[in-house]
Amino acid sequence: MATTASLKIDDKDYPLPVMVGTEGEKAIDTRALRAATGYIAYDQGYGNTGSCESQITYLDGDNGILRHRGIPIEQLAHYSDFVETAYLVIYGELPNQTQRKEFGLRLRKNAAVEMQMQKILEGFPTNASPMAMLSAMVAALPAYHPELATNDFQKDLKNFDLAAAMAISKIRTIVAMIYRYQKGLPFVFPKQELPFCDNFLHMMFSEPYQDYQPVPEVSKALNLLLLLHADHEQNCSTSTTRMVGSSAANLFTSMSAGICALSGPLHGGANVAVMQMLQSIHDEGDDGTRFIAAAKSGSKSNRLMGFGHAVYKNFDPRARIIGDACDTVLAKLGIDDPLLRIAKNLEQAALKDDYFVSRKLYPNVDFYSGIIMRAVGIPMNMFTTMFAIGRAPGYIANWKEVASNPKGRIYRPRQIYVGATKRDYVPIALRG
Ligand code: ACO
Repeated sequence: MATTASLKIDDKDYPLPVMVGTEGEKAIDTRALRAATGYIAYDQGYGNTGSCESQITYLDGDNGILRHRGIPIEQLAHYSDFVETAYLVIYGELPNQTQRKEFGLRLRKNAAVEMQMQKILEGFPTNASPMAMLSAMVAALPAYHPELATNDFQKDLKNFDLAAAMAISKIRTIVAMIYRYQKGLPFVFPKQELPFCDNFLHMMFSEPYQDYQPVPEVSKALNLLLLLHADHEQNCSTSTTRMVGSSAANLFTSMSAGICALSGPLHGGANVAVMQMLQSIHDEGDDGTRFIAAAKSGSKSNRLMGFGHAVYKNFDPRARIIGDACDTVLAKLGIDDPLLRIAKNLEQAALKDDYFVSRKLYPNVDFYSGIIMRAVGIPMNMFTTMFAIGRAPGYIANWKEVASNPKGRIYRPRQIYVGATKRDYVPIALRG
């Protein structure tokens, strides 16, 4: 394999080093390009730019492969649970029994949110966006735990285990608090003895004098949903977390920025768009046939939401897992969801249709995740916050890589300026 590439500009050759990852991914190292040639590499949206070396997640979109720390997502979905996968993503290895116990204990002990922070939440309008509330609450964590969030990598890394557990556990608690606050219900405190997902369901759905009774199928479905979102390489919100972290910002602050990035409908909000689409197809009495015809028009407003992916051009392995889980979960819970039938019709029709096949458009993870959340009892406006709970381990692992890299530099891309060239200031009286 080539070890250098060559760039020719005005008859002069410039050698550029080639990098190869452990799975054979190739890159041309352009870091010295500007100094050597005066040119920068232009890649709007970074679609073809490697911004870092990472040991966390391997994703091969052409072949539908997703692995965390080398372990295929299919195996994790089958054998693991969210907490264990979170440990793997963050620490690089599956935990042994002692590590698993200690990690679980740290999560359990750090689940509660300070009383003062509850007052912050109560300052929001009840109809505020759950993602706005979540990012603000996470951004407030350094104020309550300054010893864990000093904005000094060396110091923050010394307390990393506690900060990481706090972030995962508290984000889940905050999401449940947001749900209760919006419904006008009193907050429910976490119970230390409950496993991670059951504790979340308890904080969401317990009634006064009547605790939520865990349903194994629901806990399993929730575990799977969170696990499938645990990390996804350099997506918009994870890259944002890394970018903010690269300025030496602490873990909580960096994660809060990631959560802001996740809130957009092209990223974490897509699962809501899928459910809205399925609901409107249902309300119009269509079985999906008319919608498929309209989706082929090429108009962005008629897109088949939950289909297509910026990176997966074969299939999204998470979509397969979650699609199969939908059938099992709904059957076990005795739910007959008409939206699932519509989703299946849409999928079958699209997979046979040349428009979708030739453009390599397959279901993505969002196509079925909303149906599972609906079965679990999560309202649609909370879907993206669920994505944030799931993605927390990925943000944490990526922040840790940035903080631990002695050769790391602040993320600072360049641009091609296309604005006005130099001109003189005109006093306001002369501006016409
Ligand atoms: N429905 C119908 N046509 C589509 C769809 C779709 N969902 N997605 C892409 N196309 C068509 C485009 O119109 C275009 O057609 P053309 O070649 O005739 O012009 C072609 O497929 C390629 O489209 P691009 O937008 O270039 O594909 P890209 O890979 O850039 O976009 C994206 C990926 C944004 C995910 C897109 O497929 C989409 O909008 N999907 C629906 C939204 C969605 O599900 N987003 C969730 C992504 S997963 C996540 O973030 C967790």
